[in-house]
Amino acid sequence: MSGGNMMISEPVLELQNIHKAFGGVVAIEDFSLNLHAGEIVALVGDNGAGKSTLIKIVSGVHTPNSGTIMLDREQVSFADASVARSRGVEVVYQDLALADLQPVYMNMFLGRELVRPIGLLDRKKMLRETQQLVEELDVRIPSASAIIRDLSGGQRQGVAIARATHWAKKLILLDEPTAALGVAETAKVEKIVSALKERNIAVLIISHSLDQVFRISDRICVLRRGVQIGVRETAKTDKNEIVSMITGVN
Ligand SMILES: Nc1ncnc2c1ncn2[C@@H]1O[C@H](COP(=O)(O)OP(=O)(O)O)[C@@H](O)[C@H]1O
Ligand SMILES: [Mg+2]
Repeated sequence: MSGGNMMISEPVLELQNIHKAFGGVVAIEDFSLNLHAGEIVALVGDNGAGKSTLIKIVSGVHTPNSGTIMLDREQVSFADASVARSRGVEVVYQDLALADLQPVYMNMFLGRELVRPIGLLDRKKMLRETQQLVEELDVRIPSASAIIRDLSGGQRQGVAIARATHWAKKLILLDEPTAALGVAETAKVEKIVSALKERNIAVLIISHSLDQVFRISDRICVLRRGVQIGVRETAKTDKNEIVSMITGVN
């Protein structure tokens, strides 16, 4: 991690003056943030602060009322998450988006299925690659052909994270990826997220665990009721400061 490097590298993601309201409720107010390759930024704030909304704006689930999103210095407007995906942006949502009745390997390739020359699904190859991937990432599931419905919450989350990290080329957005996980599973996910730095991928992660935020992030961005209270370098702040930024109480 080098501050100098962060300054000179071009931002992967630039959010400029993002505004989003749902009817009369302002969820995000004038939000700006840059994310650089190989950087992990934690997004923190109380329930209802607008964290999930922000991630959904970047991934194309919600369209902002105003503001600009730039990916690799090019203005983008994702019609939906599949467009964002095609540009190297992967998301792990708080409310998991897996196909419950499909096996793990089909979920891993959802929307990007491998086909054989004759046009049939190449199940063997998808199965093999999935097996390899879950082993690499140490996701403990009965098998790559297990049906999602039959997996535990932690195992499903493991599959969602494996899928996102496998396909992410530039940017990965994680909404409370470890909220439902035990201690060992959480440690594993943190290791996987930290390893994304080496692949030069930018990470925006929402977490309620300040311990986790301080373990893995380079910077911390605090939201309160849709307003960006501040951004701090993790190494130059502490939990007390972040807590008072989150709550507004000194
Ligand atoms: N689809 C939606 N329709 C209406 N209001 C929404 C919607 N999504 C979020 N909100 C509102 O926007 C605010 C921010 O929500 P959210 O982004 O989910 O917060 P967080 O993830 O920080 O807990 C809340 O007041 C919430 O009720
Ligand atoms: Mg949320």
